[in-house]
Amino acid sequence: MQDFAGKTALVTGAGSGIGLGIAKALAGAGMNLVLADLRPAPLAEARRQIEALGVRALDVPTDVSDPTSVAALAEAAEQAFGKLHVAVNNAGVAMHGTPIEQVTPEEWAWVLGVNVMGVVNGIRSFVPLIRKHGEGGHVVNTASISGFFVREGRNQGAYAATKYAVVALSEALEQEAREAGIGVTVLCPGAVRTSIFDSAATRPDRFGGAYARPAQEAMKTGMLGAGLDPDAVGRRVVQAIRNGEFYLFTHTGERDVVEARHARISAALDAAERSTIR
Ligand SMILES: NC(=O)c1ccc[n+]([C@@H]2O[C@H](COP(=O)([O-])OP(=O)(O)OC[C@H]3O[C@@H](n4cnc5c(N)ncnc54)[C@H](O)[C@@H]3O)[C@@H](O)[C@H]2O)c1
Repeated sequence: MQDFAGKTALVTGAGSGIGLGIAKALAGAGMNLVLADLRPAPLAEARRQIEALGVRALDVPTDVSDPTSVAALAEAAEQAFGKLHVAVNNAGVAMHGTPIEQVTPEEWAWVLGVNVMGVVNGIRSFVPLIRKHGEGGHVVNTASISGFFVREGRNQGAYAATKYAVVALSEALEQEAREAGIGVTVLCPGAVRTSIFDSAATRPDRFGGAYARPAQEAMKTGMLGAGLDPDAVGRRVVQAIRNGEFYLFTHTGERDVVEARHARISAALDAAERSTIR
């Protein structure tokens, strides 16, 4: 996609962090914005920031884990702006610091509901809108570098499981939407300075409500303190849409770990070839 000006983009999780950074960068490229987030107050503030960039914006409080809420968001976007060209499925929550044996059923329902079904709900509601006008467009799904390896010592298996799923969903969507001229980018950041480790404070009631996750407190300064500026991530996303990049990494520091995992898989495939058991 090359022409952005005057077209419409929708971003979930736009109330803060990476979503807001992406929304700002898309607005900077001249796009009108539909902003969605669970938290109405930061979302309204995000709309003011986007409007100050000289484009039109709509804020729609949304729970991406709820298909009805996401369908209503898509309808509001269509009513306000007509055609949708870019959809960014970005809303997500953290689940670091708990060994997988101890992640509760409510926590699984929440992290899978937001990080995986939120993307699924977005694909189901937004991609038909992009197909509808026949002009093509682009979908960005926010996964993580944790979609490619499970970080040792962080007890982040549940989170990583959701991000591996987002990578698979994105690979499938790329295959299935290509003929409609719809590109896909799977955004896979390393540490970015955001409020991701505060997400338990706004866990919806149907997943058990707000609670504290002390295991994540140290990660706020340790892991994210030296993280990338979310606005820089936003600018990289716009560049990736323009260039038609599928995998979008923002950090290179963990390259060795990802490549070691790939080498291990490759060695296991070699072992399968050598095996005499058929
Ligand atoms: N910050 C990082 O280091 C990092 C690294 C890799 C991937 N990510 C991913 O980036 C995405 C954005 O996270 P962030 O780091 O900007 O954190 P953030 O907490 O600043 O932003 C996430 C936004 O999503 C919203 N949200 C949470 N649950 C929601 C729901 N059910 N419905 C709608 N909105 C909801 C939150 O209110 C928040 O505004 C997430 O998918 C996260 O997993 C973040």
